[in-house]
Parts: sequence; structure tokens; C-alpha cells
Amino acid sequence: MNFDIDKVKIMRLEEDTALVSFECGDTDLNDFLLNDAKNYLKSMLAVTYLLKINDETVAYFCLSYDGLTRSAILREEEKALWNKVGRKIPNSKRRRTYPAVKIGRLAVSKKYSGLGIGRLIIKAVVMMYLTEQHHAGCRFITVDAYRSALSFYEKNNFRFLTTKDLEDDIRTMYFDLKSV
Ligand SMILES: CC(C)(COP(=O)(O)OP(=O)(O)OC[C@H]1O[C@@H](n2cnc3c(N)ncnc32)[C@H](O)[C@@H]1OP(=O)(O)O)[C@@H](O)C(=O)NCCC(=O)NCCS
Repeated sequence: MNFDIDKVKIMRLEEDTALVSFECGDTDLNDFLLNDAKNYLKSMLAVTYLLKINDETVAYFCLSYDGLTRSAILREEEKALWNKVGRKIPNSKRRRTYPAVKIGRLAVSKKYSGLGIGRLIIKAVVMMYLTEQHHAGCRFITVDAYRSALSFYEKNNFRFLTTKDLEDDIRTMYFDLKSV
């Protein structure tokens, strides 16, 4: 399968957007798009974006505001990790919580997996926050990453926040928008 990157359009899901079934290999993520994404929009809990090639939905992702919080690191010996998070932030501006945007869900349709669409989504989210004007400050992108997708996020320069979740099915990762 090949595709022309210029043909990929990103559109915001609206309450009247027509949706058809979506298959990424994960039932929860498939169902979310069809059955929950509009409810999250109505409840102002998440905004969903669709990646379209012509009329086909090839991927989607959701964004919500978040905070990257020091208390997420519980182990005393890991406090140094928090200093790493803020290492590029001047001392006077260091906080216990930094403003962030969370990629709540991210899924690429099976038909298009392994073709760079996931990487394109990460770049698109970074560009949204680097090039567009915002109503509020936002320094980091966060994600609660599925174990099966950890390497994908690592390859896209996300870092682990803590080793507390080392054995968990889902791990917290972050990306510093100022590292670009
Ligand atoms: C994980 C997922 C988003 C990746 O999207 P994709 O479009 O297939 O990924 P890309 O083609 O952009 O891959 C970018 C890089 O990550 C690697 N990669 C992709 N998925 C990977 C995975 N599951 N494990 C390890 N590496 C992975 C690719 O090999 C590629 O590496 P390279 O730069 O060295 O070539 C997609 O497979 C998916 O939707 N999976 C099911 C749902 C899911 O797990 N979502 C994540 C929820 S947190």
C-alpha cells in the first residue's frame, strides 16, 4: 500500500461528521471512534481529529488538556527524573505541574499501518502547538501509551516520566515541545 502524503487531510470531528466503521486492530479504539468520540466532544472532554485520504478515515487521534505533575513520580529516588523534565526550564519558572496536552487516543487503520501515518500524527500535533496561536500555555505532550506502542513513542522522541509504571500495561510518556 502506498499513499501520497499531500493527499492526507486532518479534520476536526464535529457533531454532524459522518462516521463509518474503523479497524485498527484494537476493539476499544475502534469502538471509541464510532460510539464515544462525539460524546466526548459534547462533554468538552476531548476533541477528536480524523486523518482522511479522499473520503477514507485512515487514522484518528484525540486531544485533551493535561498537566505533567511531579506527584506522578512517587519514588523518592526518582525525584531526579523530575529535574530532567524541567531541565530546559529556567529555575525561577520551575513548577510542580507543567501545562500539557494529552494524546488521549491514537489509532491508525490496519490497512495503512507501518506507512508513517503514526509519525505524521505526532508531527501534526507538535506543529499545532508550535505554529498556531493558543489561548493558554502548553509546554508538553503527554500520552498514556499502550505497552505494544511504547517503541513507537520512543522512536518519536517521547520519554518515560517514571519507572513506577514499568510493569504496567500502560505507561506515561511525555514530549517537550521546546525540544524541537
Ligand atoms: C502504534 C500505531 C499508532 C503506529 O502507527 P503507524 O502508522 O503504524 O506507525 P509509523 O509507520 O508511523 O511508524 C513510525 C516508527 O515507529 C515504528 N513502530 C510503529 N508501530 C510500532 C509498534 N507497535 N512497536 C514498535 N515500533 C513501532 C515503525 O517501525 C517506525 O519506525 P522507523 O522510524 O524506525 O521506521 C499503530 O500501529 C496503531 O494504531 N496501533 C493500534 C492502536 C495502538 O496501539 N495505538 C496506540 C495507543 S497508545
